[in-house]
Amino acid sequence: MKIAVLTSGGDAPGMNAAIRGVVRTALSYGMEAYAVHDGYKGLYEGKIDLMKRNDVGQILNRGGTILGSSRLPEFKQKEVRAKCIENLKALGIDALVTIGGDGTYRGAMDLSAEGMPCIALPGTIDNDIASTEYTIGFFTALETAVDALDKLRDTSFSHKRCTVVEVMGRYCGDLAIYAGIACGAEIVITRDTGFNKEDIFRQVQHAKEIGKRHLVIVVAEHITDVQKLAEEIQANSPYEARASVLGYIQRGGDPCAFDRILASKMGSYAVELIRNGIGGQAIYCKSLEVGHCPINEALGKDNVPSDLYRYLSRLN
Ligand code: F6P
Repeated sequence: MKIAVLTSGGDAPGMNAAIRGVVRTALSYGMEAYAVHDGYKGLYEGKIDLMKRNDVGQILNRGGTILGSSRLPEFKQKEVRAKCIENLKALGIDALVTIGGDGTYRGAMDLSAEGMPCIALPGTIDNDIASTEYTIGFFTALETAVDALDKLRDTSFSHKRCTVVEVMGRYCGDLAIYAGIACGAEIVITRDTGFNKEDIFRQVQHAKEIGKRHLVIVVAEHITDVQKLAEEIQANSPYEARASVLGYIQRGGDPCAFDRILASKMGSYAVELIRNGIGGQAIYCKSLEVGHCPINEALGKDNVPSDLYRYLSRLN
């Protein structure tokens, strides 16, 4: 069999680990693996190369995507997708693994329906793919946001300020709420919490009343202009306020261990599906939920060996 892999949409730390997982697993099964450069745009332009084992060496721990990425609005057009399928079929490619966010998923769904079986891997810092609990890149971006928030907290404390910080996430509030919890933010504002200025002013006032020296507010992108919000907080509360937008720094950096593992596993798993003739599927992971059980039950069970053992030999 011949399979191809591409990364599309906003890059995310761990995409390289996923590419490696796909290529190495495919080769371990005796398949040919092809790289599509620059996402769907490169697919349309026929930028497709055969990959060897060493082409994915030294990338497991690297941020970004060695394949390049792009956004291609024209991919919504059937003729554009037909050309992409033609390019893949001309090389005898049987299936395509796409790594990206919701736009990439829509493309993969259409390609699958039109004759090129695709497996979609969730690669986005936004964590906004409903089927999976975590996307590749989310935890690394979270670490980056947390690191930045910790630094902002230091100066916020020193100057007794109200610090307003915008984090990415497109229309999903996960980065904001996870970072907010991890950093002890006083207020988190996302689509899910709603945005009510009077309520925010009241909460800031309350922080003063209970003796808070300073406070941190985390705001998900696309909610409001954080610069303006900081000015309004300053005008309506006892705190001096400052705003920061974390921006694209959240997309970069070496993937954390969790993202490397998740991406490796998902890449490998995608190839196994293809090998079994399965296409048109999205890979997910579940679940880190917190629950409870009687203590004797907790002690009475043997640890279940990690399912990672079964992937190890395919990734080397
Ligand atoms: O999807 C990842 C993301 O970084 C979002 O958080 C953000 O809204 C968007 O991409 C920015 O996209 P672009 O790279 O096209 O400016």
